[in-house]
Amino acid sequence: MRSFVEIQALKDLVGQEVWLRGWVRAIRSSGKIRFVELRDGTGSCQCIVEAGEPEAFAALEGCGQESSVCLGGVVREEPRSPGGVELAVSAAEVVQAGEEFPIARKEHGIEFLMQHRHLWLRSPRQTAILKIRHRIIQAARDFFDQQGFTLIDTPIFQPGAAEGAGTLFEVDYFGNPAFLAQTGQLYLETAAMALGKVYCFGPTFRAEKSKTRRHLTEFWMIEPEVAFYELKDLEGLSEAFICHLVQAVLTHNRAELEALGRDCAALEAVGMPFPRMTYSEAVGMLHDPELHGKLEAELAAEQERYAKLQKRIEEMDAELAGLMKAWKREKLTKEQQALREEAGDLERWLRNQPGHIEDAKRFRWGDDFGGDEETILSRQFDRPLIITEYPREVKAFYMKRNDADPRTVLNLDVLAPEGYGEIIGGSQREDSLEALQARMAEEGMDPAPYEWYLDLRRFGSVPHGGFGLGIERTVSWICGLKHIRETIPFPRMMGRMAP
Ligand code: 4AD
Ligand code: MG
Repeated sequence: MRSFVEIQALKDLVGQEVWLRGWVRAIRSSGKIRFVELRDGTGSCQCIVEAGEPEAFAALEGCGQESSVCLGGVVREEPRSPGGVELAVSAAEVVQAGEEFPIARKEHGIEFLMQHRHLWLRSPRQTAILKIRHRIIQAARDFFDQQGFTLIDTPIFQPGAAEGAGTLFEVDYFGNPAFLAQTGQLYLETAAMALGKVYCFGPTFRAEKSKTRRHLTEFWMIEPEVAFYELKDLEGLSEAFICHLVQAVLTHNRAELEALGRDCAALEAVGMPFPRMTYSEAVGMLHDPELHGKLEAELAAEQERYAKLQKRIEEMDAELAGLMKAWKREKLTKEQQALREEAGDLERWLRNQPGHIEDAKRFRWGDDFGGDEETILSRQFDRPLIITEYPREVKAFYMKRNDADPRTVLNLDVLAPEGYGEIIGGSQREDSLEALQARMAEEGMDPAPYEWYLDLRRFGSVPHGGFGLGIERTVSWICGLKHIRETIPFPRMMGRMAP
C-alpha cells in the first residue's frame, strides 16, 4: 500500500518513506540525475531521481512540464530547497505524460494567458491569488457568523433594478423579462426586518460597458444589513470588517503575499480608526492648493524615477550584448523585461497624471467621484478612507435623505488605500414610506414591482442600513494587483466570456 502525503506535511516527515502525487512544474536532467519540481496544490517540492534507481529514472524519460506523476522515496533535509526538504526518489509512476504545455517559462502576453486561463490557474502566482481569495471569503463569513448574523440567500432572477437600469442584464424568463441580480440588498432588507442582523453572499451582475481595471460584469459581493443601524454604526462595522479581512490574510497567507511581491507593511498599517470625511470635505480636499502642491512634487519625483529606470534598461542592453552564458542572458533578460513593464506603467501614469490634477482642481460639487478622483483621494492615506453623505442625485433611490443637508444622502463609500478606490458602498435606507415614494416618482420608477419593498415601510418600519463589499476589488487591493481580471478564476468582462 502506498501512503500518499501532501507536500505541505513533508517538513515533519524527515527520514520517512512517503509517496507524493501531483504535477511536474519543471523537470531537468543533468547526466545521471533528474531534478523534478513537483507541485500538488499544497506546495512544491524538489524531487531527486538518480540513475542509481534505474526503474524510476527510466519511468520519467520524456516526461514534461505538467505531466501528472506519483513519486515515492525518502524525505531528506535540504536547506537550499524551498520547503527545507526534498524527496530522494526510489519509485516513479507517470499517471499521464502531458502534451507540450502551452504556457512555458518564457513571458506570454496577457491575451494569450487569458485565453489559456484554465491552464494559467496552475502557475504559482495564480494559486497564491486563489488562496488569498479563499481566505478573504472565509474570513468574511466568519466575521458575520461570529457576530450573530444569519446568512440569507437572495434571488438571482429579479423583477427590477436596484442599482440603476443602465447596467441590467435582461434574460428571457418564460416569455417575460427578468434581470440578473445587481445586488441582494432589497431582499436582504426584508430579512433584516425578520431576523435583525443578516447578510447575503453571492454573485452579482452588472452590464458595465466600460473596460477598466476595476470592473467585472460578474462579481461576488458580501452584504450585511442590520435593523436599527444608522450611518455611524455602518462606519464602525465596515472598519472592523475590513481590518478583520486584512488580519486574516496577514496571519495565514504570508507566503502567498510574498510570492506576489506584496508590500506587507502597507497591509500592516491598516488599523482602526479609519479616516472619515464627508463628500463635501473630500471635494474641498480635491480643491486644496496644498494637495495640488503635493501631487506636483510627487509627479516630479516619479519623473526622476522614470529617467533612472530608462537608464538602467539601456545599461542592461549593453550588458546583454557582452554576455555569453545562456542562463545569465536569460536571467538578465527577465529582469529587464520586469523593468520595462514597470517603466511602461510609470510612463502611462506620468502621461495621465497632469490631466488628473487639472480634473481635481475643476471638480464640481454634485458630480460623482470617478476612478481618478478616488485614486487621488485614497493615495493620501495609509489606511482605508470612509467618505459619507454624497449628493443624492448620483446615488440610488433607496438611500435615506440627510435631514441636516437635504442635497445629500446618508451613505458611505470606503476607498482602499494605495489608489485602489471603492471597495465598499452602502447606506442607511429610506425608512419613511412617503419619502421613498416621492424619491421613486422623482426617478420615474414604476412603483408596482416594488410594492413588496414598500411594505417594509408600512409594517413596523425602523431605521436600518447595510453595505456591500466587492470581493474582487478587495482581493485586488490586498494582493496588490494591477488589474481585477486575476482576482477571480474565470473573469467576465466586456469583451471576455471564454473560457
Ligand atoms: O456600491 P455598490 O453598487 O452597492 C450596492 O450594490 C449596494 N446595494 C450594496 C448594499 O448596500 N448592500 O456595490 C458595492 C461594491 C462596490 O463597492 C465594489 O466593491 C463592488 O461592489 N462592485 C464591483 N466590483 C467589480 N465590478 C463591478 N462592476 C462592481 N460594481 C460594484
Ligand atoms: Mg458604489
